Amino acid sequence: MSGPDLEERSLHRAERVEQAWILFIVVLQIFFFSLIVYALTHHGGNLARTAERAPPDTILSNPPFDQPGVWKTADGGYRAVMVAQAFSFLPNEVVVPAGEAVEFQLTSRDVIHGFQIEGSNINVELIPGQVSTLTHTFRRPGEYRLVCNQYCGISHQNMRGKVRVVPSVDAAAVQAPPSAASKSASTSSAGGSVVDGAAVYARTCAGCHQGGGQGIPGAFPPLAEHVPALLDADGGRLYLIDVVLFGLAGPIKIGGQTYQGMMPAQGQLSDAELAAVLNHISTAWENAGMLPEGFSSYTAADVADRREQRLNPTEVHSRRPQSAEQR
Ligand code: CUA
Repeated sequence: MSGPDLEERSLHRAERVEQAWILFIVVLQIFFFSLIVYALTHHGGNLARTAERAPPDTILSNPPFDQPGVWKTADGGYRAVMVAQAFSFLPNEVVVPAGEAVEFQLTSRDVIHGFQIEGSNINVELIPGQVSTLTHTFRRPGEYRLVCNQYCGISHQNMRGKVRVVPSVDAAAVQAPPSAASKSASTSSAGGSVVDGAAVYARTCAGCHQGGGQGIPGAFPPLAEHVPALLDADGGRLYLIDVVLFGLAGPIKIGGQTYQGMMPAQGQLSDAELAAVLNHISTAWENAGMLPEGFSSYTAADVADRREQRLNPTEVHSRRPQSAEQR
């Protein structure tokens, strides 16, 4: 056999091996792609749709996010409207019926958060300015943990919520949004129902300001000792209401330490809840003993009065009592 002949044959062989590999890779890709299609079509794969947009700064004043909670829609379906923020969900706990399709409408009002309901296939990345919508039917009643699975800041690990799936669609299961529910509770609080400020604090504030009110240096200011100092300063009493109602943006200094935090507005809480939490931070820890003379508890009416001001977080910052900076 002559040399060139041999060369040609081995070339031919190499070509066939190459073709076989190309074919193998194409088949592999088709196989993997069909796995994805199969998972989506047969196992209720959930891809969030992100058609709508919502500007993060006005998100809580426009529908549907002005009323977070679980709603019954006009066509008899269920809709869970929820907002992620550092470091909680609004609302932090929702109740939905089992065996019914629930449409989740989700967004973030600050940074990118995760939205994962453990034990379900709901796992969405929430991007500020974007509304993610997906539908899910919970088969089994029970409590499902809701976690943020995207690192979003210093208190990310405390960003958790709960989804309670109840067996039947009774009136108690699908509530009005919590803001509306608690607002009616605050009306009745005139008739004696008491809001637990410590519970509101644990749910809403402790993630950042910590259970002992000590805060986190550089990020979240302490409330222990600092709240009485603010209450003692000119305008401090109203300033505290403004901070919880409208949020706070800008650097603040306490005891030589600068805090570059961003306090989200908590105006979604009722007047009674905000008054209760203000009273809690005024008296918790050792604060009760440091209150200025003549301190009177906050009332829901105090908060209701300030609500009309409609400040933004930067305006609140400009109203911060200067005398409290040094304490
Ligand atoms: Cu939100 Cu991590």
